[in-house]
Amino acid sequence: SQYRIAVLIGSLRRESINRQLAHGLFKLGPADFEFHECRIDDLPLYNQDDDSHQAAPVKRLKQEISGAKGVMFVTPEYNRSVPGVLKNAIDHASRPYGQSAFAGKPAGVIGASIGSIGSALAQQHLRNTLAYLDMPTMGQPEVFIHAKEGLFGDDGQIGEGSRKFLQEWMDRYVDWVKSHS
Ligand code: FNR
Repeated sequence: SQYRIAVLIGSLRRESINRQLAHGLFKLGPADFEFHECRIDDLPLYNQDDDSHQAAPVKRLKQEISGAKGVMFVTPEYNRSVPGVLKNAIDHASRPYGQSAFAGKPAGVIGASIGSIGSALAQQHLRNTLAYLDMPTMGQPEVFIHAKEGLFGDDGQIGEGSRKFLQEWMDRYVDWVKSHS
């Protein structure tokens, strides 16, 4: 397929709402988009001493991002910010200095939380990081999902109540990626 998107999910939890949201969104993408969930649970903790000999999982992550037309971030909020596991992955793929995998890649940010502000602060913090990483990041529509019963159907598809809204996000993200590649 023509447009491969690297997807970074900010939760390692088996039943993660954000992973379900990501997979529900994949189904809303067009046929020429392929979404690849990047593995981040086997990355070591970032240590700058290792920049000259990055571990195999770090190299893999960087290749997945480098080879993608865009990057999608789907994240919960931990203590009003970006979960450490996601920040760790970002730090890895941004290094060594001058060899970031992210530069210029169009980004989309979305997230869900059981809290009423639905990951808004985590997303805002993430946007600061993406600006520094020189990633053109879609500004609108913002989506802060307050996860409640019925968000997903039994088949894992996004429920009727949110589908139109999330389809709009996906359509805009697809345009965003195409206009930056
Ligand atoms: C949370 N949660 C949370 N929610 C929120 O809206 N704002 C927050 O600051 C936090 N902080 C926070 C810290 C930590 C350490 C945990 C474990 C959780 C709740 C969070 O939204 C909830 O656990 C989600 O279900 C996490 O997303 P996943 O794992 O379901 O994708």
